[in-house]
Amino acid sequence: MKPLFEKYRPASWCDVVAQDKAIQQIQTIGTKSGYASRAWWIAGQSGTGKTTLAYLLAKEVADETMIEELDAAELTPARLREIESTMSSYGWGKGGRAYIVNEAHGLSKPSVRQLLVLLERLPKHVVVIFTTTNDGEDYLFEGTDDAGPLLSRCIKITLSRRDLAQAFAIRAKAIAEQEGLDGQPVEKYVKLVQACRNNMRAVLCEIEKGVMVS
Ligand SMILES: Nc1ncnc2c1ncn2[C@@H]1O[C@H](COP(=O)(O)OP(=O)(O)OP(=O)(O)O)[C@@H](O)[C@H]1O
Ligand SMILES: [Mg+2]
Repeated sequence: MKPLFEKYRPASWCDVVAQDKAIQQIQTIGTKSGYASRAWWIAGQSGTGKTTLAYLLAKEVADETMIEELDAAELTPARLREIESTMSSYGWGKGGRAYIVNEAHGLSKPSVRQLLVLLERLPKHVVVIFTTTNDGEDYLFEGTDDAGPLLSRCIKITLSRRDLAQAFAIRAKAIAEQEGLDGQPVEKYVKLVQACRNNMRAVLCEIEKGVMVS
């Protein structure tokens, strides 16, 4: 059985809570000039929807089996060379290929340098999506000077940090009700979300433990 936070990971754009501005920015670019053939950089606090949005974006381009999720630490120059050799061929189904690189602030300097070249010759059917909890450019990639050049090759989407508590609380209560784990008013959920620093994954883990059962 999947953990609650996976079971209730939004499967479509309209299921995502409190990130309307980010979604609007992504969709404006996506519908006007396409989601693929470019790199995206999604920054935001933990558990607020980065990987979720990265998957939704990836699914606009590629079938689920053609989406590869990687941790930045495993993205060595050798792995990048492998990826570059496979990404030139079309994927199954929709034809696209998507690569999601989580914890992107942890990319090594050599990988960043290789990415600069790789992103210059990204095939039209490929999308690369970086996600990071790091908002600024100062602590990226072991302090390398290449942060600017890499970020300038990406479309930067910054997730909202504000006004999440109420919206997350309402969604959390609805999930708890569906799971038979609810027994508290919405104000208690707001408190739980605040105690979890707006991390919806953490909230759902608490609910799974039964903390909201009366
Ligand atoms: N904006 C949101 N709307 C609805 N559910 C959300 C949202 N953000 C997070 N969640 C819930 O929390 C889970 C974890 O979210 P996600 O993987 O997108 O977080 P993240 O921002 O990538 O965090 P991390 O930095 O820890 O990787 C999701 O599977 C979903 O259940
Ligand atoms: Mg993530």
